[in-house]
Order: sequence, then C-alpha cells, then structure tokens
Amino acid sequence: MLHLTAVDLKRRKIKALFIPVCEDKRIHTEPVIAALVDRAAAIEEFKGKKDQEITLYRPPGCAAERVVFSGLGKAESLDPEALRRAAGRSAKRCIQLGLPRMWLAAPDPAAAGIAETGLLRAMMEGAFLGNHVFDRYKQEKETKPLVRVDIVVPAAAARHRRLAAEVQTVCSGTLMAREWVSLPSNAKPPAELAALIAREAKAQGLAVEVLTERELRRKNMGALLAVAAGSCNRPAMLVLRHRGGGRRPPTVLVGKGVTFDSGGINIKTGDSLPDMKGDMAGAAAVAAALIVAARLNLKRHLIGVIPLVENMVSGTSTRPGDIVRTFAGKTVEIGNTDAEGRLILIDAMAYAERRFKPEVMIDLATLTGACVVALGEKIAGVFASDEALQAALVASGRRTHERCWPLPLPGDYRELLKSAYADINNMPSTRYGGAISAALFLSEFVGKTRWAHIDIAGPGFHRKEDAYCGPGGTGFGVRLLLDWLMSAGG
Ligand code: BES
Ligand code: MN
Ligand code: ZN
Repeated sequence: MLHLTAVDLKRRKIKALFIPVCEDKRIHTEPVIAALVDRAAAIEEFKGKKDQEITLYRPPGCAAERVVFSGLGKAESLDPEALRRAAGRSAKRCIQLGLPRMWLAAPDPAAAGIAETGLLRAMMEGAFLGNHVFDRYKQEKETKPLVRVDIVVPAAAARHRRLAAEVQTVCSGTLMAREWVSLPSNAKPPAELAALIAREAKAQGLAVEVLTERELRRKNMGALLAVAAGSCNRPAMLVLRHRGGGRRPPTVLVGKGVTFDSGGINIKTGDSLPDMKGDMAGAAAVAAALIVAARLNLKRHLIGVIPLVENMVSGTSTRPGDIVRTFAGKTVEIGNTDAEGRLILIDAMAYAERRFKPEVMIDLATLTGACVVALGEKIAGVFASDEALQAALVASGRRTHERCWPLPLPGDYRELLKSAYADINNMPSTRYGGAISAALFLSEFVGKTRWAHIDIAGPGFHRKEDAYCGPGGTGFGVRLLLDWLMSAGG
C-alpha cells in the first residue's frame, strides 16, 4: 500500500499530487515541485497557512491532473507531527475526491530541517492512518479507502523500502486496534472479543491461550470475577506469547479489557455511556502490539495478558461495600463498582507476575476520568516504579506523538485507599488526584517487577475525528509500545 517512489512528474500521468507547503519557507527543492509551489504562492488567497488548501488543475510543466497544496503554517512550527497531520488530511481529501490512489510529495529533509527517516516515517504514518474508515455498519459505503499511496521522493530515498514495510506493519496494528475499539459492545462480549483477537494472533504465529470463567474461578481471581458478576456475558483472559527472545525472562504487557463499562450498581450518568464501548482500548493496543511484534519478528520474549469483562447492572451485580479476595490473596472492599478497571488489572498483573516472572511489566488502561481532567484528551499519564522506564516511555511518546506525561506515585497518598474492613478499598477517600490513587492501587499488587502504568482514558477513544484518525477508537498505544520495544529503552 505504501510506496516510496521516484517519479518523472513532467511525464507521469497521475490523478492527484498532494504537496505540503510552509507559508514562509520553501521546503521543496525538486525542480518540478518547486515550480508548482511558486505557481501556488502567486495565488493571492493561498498563503500556506495551517490547514489551508488550494487545488490547481492541469498546471503547466507537470502531467498531474490536479495538484493539491496543503498549508503547514510557519516553518518554525514544522515538525514530524505537522507532516503526519498534513499527510492524514491529504489522504482523507483524496478519499473524498473518490480517487483510489494518492501521490504525496515529500519535502526536502534539509530544507524542512527534519532528519530524512523521521520525515518519511511521519508522512507514511499520516497517510496510512488517515486512510482508515470504520464503516462496517453502514449499508451504503460513502467512501472507499485508497488502495495505494506513493510518497514522491528523490531516487536516492527509494532505498528506505524496509522503512515503508515497517511503517505499514506497525500502523496496520493501529488500525486493527481502532476496529476492535470502535466495535459496539453488542458485537464484542468478552468471549467473542477473545476469539476475534485469538484468530488474528494465531494467524501471525503467536501462542494463544484463552482462560475461561471456570479457570479464572479455579485460580481465585476474585477481583476480576466481581466485575464480571453482573453481566450474562462470561469473562475471559487472553494470554498471547511471542517467543522471539527465546527463554529469557519476558516483557509482559497487560491491557484493560472492559467491553462495556456501565459503572455497575454505581451506574454512570450523563452522556458518556456510549463511549464506554471503548473501555477495552488498553486490551486492543496490547493485543495489536503483540501481533505486530510477531509480524516484525522482534527478537524479544513478549507476553500479553488481557483480562476481558463486561461491567453491568443486574441482580447478580457486585454491590458497593462487597469485599472480595484477590488472586494475590489481599482482600478488597469494593467501595465503588465503577472503579472496575483496577480490579481486573490487579488479578491479571498478580497472575502474570507469579506465572511469568517478567523482567518488566507495562499495563495500558482507560482507567480514570481524573487523568483526562489532568492531561486532556490527547495525552496519557505514565506512572512507573523506576524513572528510567518512565523516561523511556515518555521518549517513545515524543517520537510517535502518542504523548505520555510523567505522573508521580507518592507513598503518602496510599492512605487514601484505606478500608475499615478489608486490606484496601478500590475507591479513594477523595476525588482529588484520582489518576494517582488508581495507579497507587495497582502498585499494591505488583511485587518487585519493574512496572509502568499508562492511563489512556483520554487518548484511547475520541468522539470527533482528527487529522489522521476517524471518530471512535484511536489505536493509541500501538505505535508507542512498538517504538519502546524496538528502541534501547525496551
Ligand atoms: N472507564 C472509566 C474511566 C474513563 C473515563 C475512561 C472517561 C474513559 C473516559 C473507569 O472505569 C471509571 O469509571 N473510573 C472512575 C473511577 C472512580 C469511580 C474512582 C472515574 O474515573 O470516575
Ligand atoms: Mn468504571
Ligand atoms: Zn472502566
């Protein structure tokens, strides 16, 4: 789908060429493209301001039927993300035009002030991710995704073919996660979602285990089962394994998989309920990351542990005030049935730690509204037991623009989780610092393993579309995890 192509624009008949331009700097040096940019610059109403667009039809000196210029704004604000966004917008525009194929001119790295691989990667990512349409429930498909994207590069850059293949594999993982997250909850009860993911995982050569409710019961996962109690859809736990690193201690990834979060007896109010189909975005990201790791044949031993439950209201629901015994043995007073994510995660993590003795463990979870209040909808909170791990994840977030901001695990806040009757309460005694108290709750169930927790409640699911994402699941976390796994930090 993605290609880096050197092309003679004077002769090659193409339908649509997209050229990103800055308002105050020439960033293209290829002569035909530079001449086209000059022509656009002469049009008064087009300044190259951010998100501005203008189309020239059959311009002289070029065999393209139409050339679409997209504004990037000022050169000083030009970075890989600006290119990713412009590429995403261009892909969406091209889809709107009903064209099956897009040509997109890459700026000159030196002129743009961005390293060549970073520049090409961002453009390919934006185009590929912007080309996704979740329309499986539309009888009439209004738009057809592009079948091919050519990034127009100088002949020498065509050698980055491996990069194109890698970007495509990683970003396919993002799209896979988006699809799972956007699926309505009636199409993904835990057992069905497990089967859906398992099928994809097996096809990529991962070892797959699905623990059923009976097995979870036998293992005494009381916290997870308490969340599942109100739903007639039975819970499951998925274990995915990629043995690229032989028998070395694995890296374990854990993802919150609440296929619908009604809140339980502490039922949610307001208009956020439909979005709670996205409460398994952590699970989707972890599963997709493992599938991508297998496809890329990463030389690492990786395990994904994915607890899947539905949090519902019924006569069999867990009640506020109920006390359960967790897999780890500690008892939890369930002060609030809407704080369910932490309950399924502690059983999954304690189990993973005991069974796999990981070198490092990372969990991803749409865990708290408080994290969204703190960091907004586009930035995840990252907590970690060691600063190097936290810094490595923040760095991966910066490179991928799946941004993570460090938040603390202050020991003295642990008293917020005291219970009068049990070892700990899942509901903190104050609503202030809710992302932190949730992370501290998790930390009580992780032993000596190096561990990080990423709260993706904000960036996991968006109601509105953005430059290279449609409405619904964002696939946040897949590129982040892959970057971390493939860099020194992992
Ligand atoms: N799934 C929610 C968190 C969430 C909120 C995700 C908004 C995405 C967008 C989680 O299970 C939850 O309900 N958390 C509670 C915790 C509270 C009861 C301690 C919250 O954040 O209000
Ligand atoms: Mn909840
Ligand atoms: Zn939840």
